[in-house]
Amino acid sequence: MSAEDFDFAVRLTDTAGWQMIKEDFEFMTNLEPEGCFILLKNSEKVGVATTIGFDRVGWFGNLIIDEKHRKSGAGSTLVRHSIVYLTEKRISTVGLYAYMDTVSFYKQLGFVFNLYFTVLQGKVKKSINLNKAIDCKKAGRDDLDGICECDTTCFGASRRKLLEPILRDEANVCYKFEDKGKIQAYAMSKVWKGFAEIGPLVSPCGRSDITLSLLKSIFKSLEGFEVSLAVQKTETTVIEALLEIGLKEQFCVARMFLNPPAALECVYVPESLERG
Ligand SMILES: CC(C)(COP(=O)(O)OP(=O)(O)OC[C@H]1O[C@@H](n2cnc3c(N)ncnc32)[C@H](O)[C@@H]1OP(=O)(O)O)[C@@H](O)C(=O)NCCC(=O)NCCS
Repeated sequence: MSAEDFDFAVRLTDTAGWQMIKEDFEFMTNLEPEGCFILLKNSEKVGVATTIGFDRVGWFGNLIIDEKHRKSGAGSTLVRHSIVYLTEKRISTVGLYAYMDTVSFYKQLGFVFNLYFTVLQGKVKKSINLNKAIDCKKAGRDDLDGICECDTTCFGASRRKLLEPILRDEANVCYKFEDKGKIQAYAMSKVWKGFAEIGPLVSPCGRSDITLSLLKSIFKSLEGFEVSLAVQKTETTVIEALLEIGLKEQFCVARMFLNPPAALECVYVPESLERG
């Protein structure tokens, strides 16, 4: 994919209502210049997919085929091509988030179910109610090393190339929780005009108080915004608290991995469905 394909990619993803803009594909191709693909049938553009490599872990996303060209192997071709690209970069595990109606499609291609996530969206109507909020501090560029260290222990590979531009963008918001001189948990939010996508968030298992304190701090700076985030289905306390403040569950996705799962035990909000 190159700059002249962005219009096509936006038009195609519009047909699925993904609300993507040219800048999304620009961001993706800057992160992984050789790993974002357009599928051509003869010379007609018929599909899109993107990948990103983080050391040994790769992520696959944004797969869509023009409706007229589905059910004839186009989607599978793009998935296989992407796996070859990532494997040549010595990536041993590929992750993705699948819509529920595409789980069997990815299963046929070797991906194995790992965990369900629910996507919540809406306007935050009130502050998260916590008996005892944990002290979370705003994080800035100087925290990049500490955030990357904390993130790698959960994600299983360094996402530095993705976390750095998010942290550098001054419109975005990031909070951290420190203990014993180390960042133990953090949350970021990408902020646009009136809309914010929360993620990534990484926090220790069994400490929903830390997760909710991070989200509470983030939401405080996003009053009146429409927000969206994906949360592990197993994090029932976190999901209940988010429903309580006005968010609504939109749809569910399945995290799947080719080869052993990369993610370790922790509370985890994806950066985005397409980048892991
Ligand atoms: C999901 C998607 C990318 C699949 O693309 P596709 O080109 O139809 O994929 P394929 O043709 O390779 O495979 C689709 C199905 O057709 C079957 N198929 C493949 N070649 C075929 C052929 N020649 N004749 C008949 N069926 C065929 C496959 O076995 C597969 O079966 P399944 O429905 O049981 O999984 C496409 O449906 C799409 O763009 N959906 C909307 C966006 C979306 O949901 N993206 C996924 C985000 S997670």
